[in-house]
Formats: sequence, structure tokens, C-alpha cells
Amino acid sequence: MKSSIGLALLMGLTLSLATTVGEQGEEPVDTFMHAKLAFSQSILEGLAVEDYDQIAKNAQSLTLLSEEAGWKVVQTAEYAHQSDLFRRNTRALTEAARKHNLDGSTLAFVQVTLNCVECHKHVRGVQQARLDLPHPLPSFKVTQ
Ligand code: HEC
Repeated sequence: MKSSIGLALLMGLTLSLATTVGEQGEEPVDTFMHAKLAFSQSILEGLAVEDYDQIAKNAQSLTLLSEEAGWKVVQTAEYAHQSDLFRRNTRALTEAARKHNLDGSTLAFVQVTLNCVECHKHVRGVQQARLDLPHPLPSFKVTQ
């Protein structure tokens, strides 16, 4: 409950910052996605100073973020799979932090981080495929 209020406050803050800085709400997805980075950095800080509350709170915020409608910007089976893995890993991280298990928390954080990279690889692949799509069409020739 506490952390969802915290999340709401944080999202509100980042969103209002974005609307003052950005061009008329140009990048809501961007702002939303950048919140992941802020939570992750805060988890790393929590791990470094052994602050289990900080780790658990931010890991839970990541889980909540991944359950928001704004998370589902890519409609592929692989994206859904990566999202499931992500939630599993952030939940494992929350659990490990609640048990004051520093090694377990660190390991779970590495898994969350691998997940960031894997999903982004997939998203870039999908974006690249979309960019590539129109180009072969005009000059497309069937040989033989
Ligand atoms: C299930 C997929 C998925 C996972 C897991 C994921 N992301 Fe993302 N992320 C995205 C998508 C989709 C975008 C939006 C890409 C776009 O709009 O070009 C994005 C964008 C971002 C951006 C903005 C990049 C930019 O171009 O401005 C940041 C920062 C980011 N993610 C950080 C993270 C971090 C940190 C993690 C891990 C804690 C993470 N993401 C995990 C899917 C994911």
C-alpha cells in the first residue's frame, strides 16, 4: 500500500517534470520507461549500503510498473514472455530483500538486469523489422 502511494507520487513527479520540460506530453512512454531506470538505480544503492527496505520498496515498484497498461507497448509473444520473467525476477528480489538475504538479493538484481537487456534486444529487433519492412517492397523482384 505504502509503496503504491510512493509509486504514484514518483510517477506524478516524473510526469509533471516531463510535461514542463518536454514538448506538450510528447513522450509519455519514454517517461514511464525511464522510471524503471530510477527504481533500478535505487535498488543498486540499497544493495551497496545493505538497505533492505530500499531494495524491497523499489523492486515492488518495478513489479507494479510492469503490471500497468502502459507497459504493453509491444504486442509479441516474446515481449509477453519477457514481461512474465521480469515480474518473476522482481518478485524474487522483493522476497530476498524482505528475508534480509543480501546475496540472494544481489543475484536476483543481476537477473532483473539481464532481463532489461534481453527485452530491449527484442524490442530493438521488432523496431528494426518495422523500419526494414517498407524498403524491400518497391524494388521487390521475384527471380526465377
Ligand atoms: C518486457 C520488456 C522490457 C523490460 C523487461 C525492460 N524494458 Fe525498458 N523498455 C521497454 C520498451 C518497450 C521500451 C520503449 C522503447 C521505445 O519506445 O523505443 C523501453 C524503454 C526503456 C528506457 C527508455 C529508453 C529511451 O530510448 O529513452 C529505459 C531507460 C529503460 N527501458 C530501462 C529499463 C530498465 C532499467 C529495465 C530493467 C530494470 C528495463 N527497461 C526492462 C521494454 C522493457
